[in-house]
Amino acid sequence: MTPAEQASSRPMIEFHDVTKTYDGGRPAVEDLSIEIDRGRITVFVGPSGCGKTTSLRMINRMVEPTSGQILLDGQDIGRQKAAELRRSMGYVMQSSGLLPHRTVLDNIATVPRLNGVGKAEARRRASELLDVVGLASDLGRRYPVQLSGGQQQRVGVARALAADPPVLLMDEPFSAVDPVVRAELQEELLRLQRDLAKTIVFVTHDIDEATILGDKVAVFAVGGRLAQFAAPEEILRAPVDDFVAGFVGRDRGFRHLSFQDGDGVAIHPVETIDSDRLADPTVPVHSPWTLLVDTEGRPHGWVPQASRAGFTRQADAVPGGSLYTRGDSLRRALDAALSSPSGLGVAVDDDGRVVGVVRAAEVFGLIEAARLGRGRAEHNTAV
Ligand SMILES: Nc1ncnc2c1ncn2[C@@H]1O[C@H](COP(=O)(O)OP(=O)(O)O)[C@@H](O)[C@H]1O
Ligand SMILES: [Mg+2]
Repeated sequence: MTPAEQASSRPMIEFHDVTKTYDGGRPAVEDLSIEIDRGRITVFVGPSGCGKTTSLRMINRMVEPTSGQILLDGQDIGRQKAAELRRSMGYVMQSSGLLPHRTVLDNIATVPRLNGVGKAEARRRASELLDVVGLASDLGRRYPVQLSGGQQQRVGVARALAADPPVLLMDEPFSAVDPVVRAELQEELLRLQRDLAKTIVFVTHDIDEATILGDKVAVFAVGGRLAQFAAPEEILRAPVDDFVAGFVGRDRGFRHLSFQDGDGVAIHPVETIDSDRLADPTVPVHSPWTLLVDTEGRPHGWVPQASRAGFTRQADAVPGGSLYTRGDSLRRALDAALSSPSGLGVAVDDDGRVVGVVRAAEVFGLIEAARLGRGRAEHNTAV
């Protein structure tokens, strides 16, 4: 291995036997040792009060450990200047923490300005970052109160990225926004990360969010005890103890389907009708459920055969369920079928055009086949 290769395979952040006790009470974090991979998303998840925020804040010395050592890129952070260290990492929290009396653009430019970047240059870069996080450039002139919660969190992410730090610390950044916006922000973060490849440490109390975002997930128990640290699939499939099993929860079997690819799911033909033909009540339909599509072949809802005559306008169609894009996970395939009024999950191509339908029973068949296959593989290695 060359020295450069060695450096890039070294964990970005290492905790060695780190303990934090506030005011002589019980340890908030006890004897934590963990290695955080470079360029990946590591999620700290666990119930409230288990030391996630404390652990995160020890990385940029907002909190000082009582004992133990934290290395950044192999260097002891205890020997670095706390203020410089803090500015060298992006930090995003639950309340966006934006300065209310500064415009969005000036908020984003804060850290580069502190680092000595000129005003014009810092603003130009801030304006680019608005685009990076999916915000229109004219929002830059507004004040934080003039933005929605989701927009404020996006600005918070832009601000954290402004100095182009290699490490991004995120403490429940999406917890205060509604579930729809939260899902958008999660997708957006994953999209960003594909380009940026930052080392991200992300704190959440939501196991769903943890398994969606994490390359690796650290499950914390009370007292900052690291209960399990593994890839999300493994935590869902094989929780190490009752605490993790309980935390991962009742739906873990279902969530685990997210990691099984749906390539084997059969896509069947489906009868479709467009709105012109729908408008003429004498045009018959032949299936119990017919799918209404637009001129591009995109789905618009279902027409039940029994009430065909009364269904002549697009607005009459029964709204469909979730869509399954070819190649998505088994979870998406099953959800498409189960959420559809016809019991048939609509499958679309990458352009959103209908390619057919999937059936729940067949998805179950694949799940069962995969389980039997796995059982057999494990049995074979055991003998
Ligand atoms: N500044 C502080 N002073 C005293 N106790 C604190 C302080 N911050 C956190 N704690 C305590 O440390 C424990 C862990 O808190 P925290 O790290 O915020 O957990 P989490 O982020 O997982 O909810 C809790 O018992 C909390 O009350
Ligand atoms: Mg916290």
